[in-house]
Amino acid sequence: MGFGRGKVILLGEHSVVHGYPAIAVGIERGVHAQAAPGNRDLLRLDPWALEIEPDPEADEPLARAFAAVLDTYAERPPLEVDARVELPAGAGLGCSAAIGVAVLDAIDGALGRSRSREELGEAALAWEEVFHGNPSGIDNTMSAVGGVAWFRRGEPLRALDANKPLHLVVGFSGVSSSTKEMVSSVRRQLEQDENRVRQTFDGIETLVRNAKLAIEAGDLIALGQLLDLNHTLLSSLMLCTTKLDAMCQAARAAGALGAKMTGAGGGGCMFALAPKREEAERLREVLGDDAFVAEVSA
Ligand code: PMV
Repeated sequence: MGFGRGKVILLGEHSVVHGYPAIAVGIERGVHAQAAPGNRDLLRLDPWALEIEPDPEADEPLARAFAAVLDTYAERPPLEVDARVELPAGAGLGCSAAIGVAVLDAIDGALGRSRSREELGEAALAWEEVFHGNPSGIDNTMSAVGGVAWFRRGEPLRALDANKPLHLVVGFSGVSSSTKEMVSSVRRQLEQDENRVRQTFDGIETLVRNAKLAIEAGDLIALGQLLDLNHTLLSSLMLCTTKLDAMCQAARAAGALGAKMTGAGGGGCMFALAPKREEAERLREVLGDDAFVAEVSA
């Protein structure tokens, strides 16, 4: 069985595309996949009931991504891959990367090929590049490796030692967004007003660096404050929506230590940091039917 996990970016999305650091965690929800030799190459995706044939020229990005992945295997029989997706798509939880990692992992299994999770994450970049032109690599790497990690583009992932478990509650705003479009919007702002956007990125970097210390020290109160500040800086880049803001406010009012949007923004997900396990359950009720608790162990 192949597996690619989902991820939550704790701090540093968007600036990470431009070479600044970010901190992300892998979550237990993700994508499971199984592959076996068949009559033709085919990718079935549930619960969406999609059947995808690989085609490098297709309009459908999944067909191009599947072709890109199959291309990385020199000799192989036709392969049928069945994948079950447990993450909302276009929601900032790294759904597309998780599918790519799970598909590669399943094909490796079917062909008796073994490689490290790091190598698997790297190979999944071929898949991820189809979905957004300029991926930082954080999604595919986190999807393969997991844990709590410090990521900077072009550098190997660095595991962080969390002093305490993190009880996160992830809420979905109900609206999907395109990572590609959100990343382009930030690039345009950077081109038009470089000073302002660089200052914002510098501010986010300071928050990321302090968050690393807070995570290592188990200072959840400080971490919560840094999440709130990162949310505000992402809002200043016009990445938040009224709904995401309202969900973050509701979570804070219900006792969250901090809350922020996560991933590309413009819709998608937010998450809240709960002080304890029991309070995570209560926050989940505040954040709607789609919300779920993600435990990140120390
Ligand atoms: O929304 P997601 O899960 O695609 O997260 C994207 C994270 C960005 O920093 C916005 C883009 C990237 O490639 O790092």
